[in-house]
Amino acid sequence: MSTPISGFSKLSKSQKISWLAENYFNDAQAGIRVLQQYWNSDQKLQQLHDEFIENTISNYYLPLGVAPNFTINGKMYAIPMAIEESSVVAAASNAAKFWLDKGGFKAKVIQSVKNGQVHLNFYGDSKRLEAFFNEVKPILLADCESITTNMRKRGGGILDLELRNKTQELAGYYQLHATFETLDAMGANFINSCLEQFASSLLREAAKSTLITEEDRLEVVMSILSNYVPECIVRAEVSCPVNELAQAGMSGQEFATKFARAVQIAQTEVRRAVTHNKGIMNGIDAVVLATGNDFRAVEAGVHAYASKDGHYRSLTHAAVSDGVFRFWIEIPLAIGTVGGLTKLHPLVKLCFEMLGNPGAKELMQIMAVAGLALNFAALRSLTTTGIQKGHMKMHLMNILNQLEATPQEKEAAIEHFKANTVSHAAAVSFLESLRP
Ligand code: MEV
Repeated sequence: MSTPISGFSKLSKSQKISWLAENYFNDAQAGIRVLQQYWNSDQKLQQLHDEFIENTISNYYLPLGVAPNFTINGKMYAIPMAIEESSVVAAASNAAKFWLDKGGFKAKVIQSVKNGQVHLNFYGDSKRLEAFFNEVKPILLADCESITTNMRKRGGGILDLELRNKTQELAGYYQLHATFETLDAMGANFINSCLEQFASSLLREAAKSTLITEEDRLEVVMSILSNYVPECIVRAEVSCPVNELAQAGMSGQEFATKFARAVQIAQTEVRRAVTHNKGIMNGIDAVVLATGNDFRAVEAGVHAYASKDGHYRSLTHAAVSDGVFRFWIEIPLAIGTVGGLTKLHPLVKLCFEMLGNPGAKELMQIMAVAGLALNFAALRSLTTTGIQKGHMKMHLMNILNQLEATPQEKEAAIEHFKANTVSHAAAVSFLESLRP
């Protein structure tokens, strides 16, 4: 066990690595070599990455793939996806192709309102707090004017500020609930700056007001945006006549009915819903990452939305009626196309270029479509061939790499497993059969 270290962040990168190697690596030199393998030879680019976070020791790569042939609202996209799971990009591409000649995907942003709260303690008469809030609300908003100038110029800003009495849920708990339009920005810094200004203005005004007394114990607990954004919603859908869904060995009606049943199960059963939604997030997270957005924020918000009625459910819906199959998703996505990493990270910048430099609303649509596409691909496999066939085919390369297969062995294995079931054991015995 190493002893605690102080002032670690002040050490140089190589000092940090030496300390790590000395204390935590089994083979110091081998460990250092691995870290260095991932350094970028372009010093400037490496420095950019070093400065994204504290204590950077190397870069952590994920593959960046692309799923072409997505038609969304009549426009063709090649969607960049950053993800490590072997079958996701292939599944996205398959789903895009499948819907290409069936009208493609339609998507629209239903609402784009973000929110945040100043969380307060107040133990006096709620009527007095309400009267005080109504009196100072214009002052609180005016105090934010310098923060909101640029956003207002572009058509966004603070939409509303209200006092919410939460004492039924927690004694003495109130909040200033603020709503915002942040346009193409995810808006986290903007929202948090406004909230912190509301908080300090509120306390300043309270100190001067006769409506608030010491005994009320008015206190700001914290001020922070919410990653739960049920008023920032995008919808994506596909539809086609049922007969166009005929699959190998299944009529269109049979496939549509079984597919819709799978969605119903995910609407009902939490154990299935979580996996179902995980598959949706395979698509969404990959685009969120490729575009430099905050996948933790998106994940947290999406899963909370999945349980908005108190029961965790599928984020997608399916219906079969009058000979038409419809499949859609409605999800909250608070993302940005300006600020953060968007203009800073060269690959992220290129991903935006690939997408035609969309604004936030268009990017919300692209992400929702990626989620719907992945869910379609997963349910299509699950209700027909089973998931492992396609999944293991894509995973084959990982197994072969693990077994240190040569390029010739890989080629032979790919050919062999076109007609045979992939498993780790089957790959081992196939390679053994090739090796002298
Ligand atoms: C695997 O990453 C995702 C799936 O499990 C999703 C699903 O079950 O719907 C295939």
